[in-house]
Amino acid sequence: MTITKTAFGQTPDGQTADLYTLTNGNGMKVQITNYGGIITSIVVPDKNGKFEDVALGYDNLADYIKNSPYFGALIGRYGNRIAGGKFTLDGKEYKLFINNDPNSLHGGKKGFDKVLWKAEPVEGADVVGLKLTYLSKDMEEGYPGNLNATVWYFLTRDNELQIKYEATTDKPTVVNLTNHSYFNLAGAGNGDVLDHVMMLNADRFLPVDKTLIPTGELRPVKGTPFDFTTPTPIGKNIKADDEQVKFGNGWDHAWVLNKPKAGELTLAARVVEPTSGRMLEMYTTEPAVQFYSGNFLDGTTVGKGGKPYKFRYAFCLEAEHYPDSPNQPKFPSTVLRPGETYRQTTVYKFSTK
Ligand code: GLA
Repeated sequence: MTITKTAFGQTPDGQTADLYTLTNGNGMKVQITNYGGIITSIVVPDKNGKFEDVALGYDNLADYIKNSPYFGALIGRYGNRIAGGKFTLDGKEYKLFINNDPNSLHGGKKGFDKVLWKAEPVEGADVVGLKLTYLSKDMEEGYPGNLNATVWYFLTRDNELQIKYEATTDKPTVVNLTNHSYFNLAGAGNGDVLDHVMMLNADRFLPVDKTLIPTGELRPVKGTPFDFTTPTPIGKNIKADDEQVKFGNGWDHAWVLNKPKAGELTLAARVVEPTSGRMLEMYTTEPAVQFYSGNFLDGTTVGKGGKPYKFRYAFCLEAEHYPDSPNQPKFPSTVLRPGETYRQTTVYKFSTK
């Protein structure tokens, strides 16, 4: 297991971002830059041992800085949407940047995906990894409290990419961290993902309004197009005549994960690409997963190796607390107070079938 480092490019304020390459004994390779904590590539074998990069992204830092729909990035301080870009905590109202009219999305104008993290390689007996740290200052992007965030990426001997998050604060705040990798198990840029077969370990999902803010209802998936409790092609019901599917222009919703005990690391999703046989299993401690089917990709984004990323050329499985939790007291809390530690673990496990 090895980790190496090369320069990746300059940020607009003249700092150097690095690119770390993690490899394990099976030839699986993961590349991560400390700009935005972005996973820039994940190279895994298919059932015949043919390696492909299954993560969408760019060849160089400049493209990430110019325009990226959060490819591979760490998302914070609050992943997903906060209604109207505001919330009240302990009687005080906080205003956020509205970057997804009329809501605030994925941390605001300059979220954790656009900052330079401090990076430190770590090596263990069965893992090779990268530790990233970032201090988000009090009132940065409108969020209260100095937040010390730490994220570890680990590549294991059995082709798991583990992500561990921790954060502490000196004032009450809200936190919801995730990773926004875009996957295509046939290889990034090699067609849409509608034939990928997916299982979501979720009996309920969160219906949304037309700005994609949850209504507060936890709706059973049974009998709706949102039922992925058994393996189902992603494209099967994506054009269903259903208000919720239309609001998302396809899948762009949070599914509530079946979890015997809150905070337990359990299976959230299993996705198989039938031709290559590549399989991705996701485990998380989080209560929900935002499953997004790349509905905003339109071919104008040209990615690694000059390949255009067209409509629904990828899927994202973002482990997180429910969207808009700071405004919805009935949802599991995203409030972090001084003295507490925010923790989340998500594992993406690659294999073949
Ligand atoms: C999340 C959101 C989507 C979209 C993507 C990024 O998945 O829910 O609506 O913003 O991020 O484009």
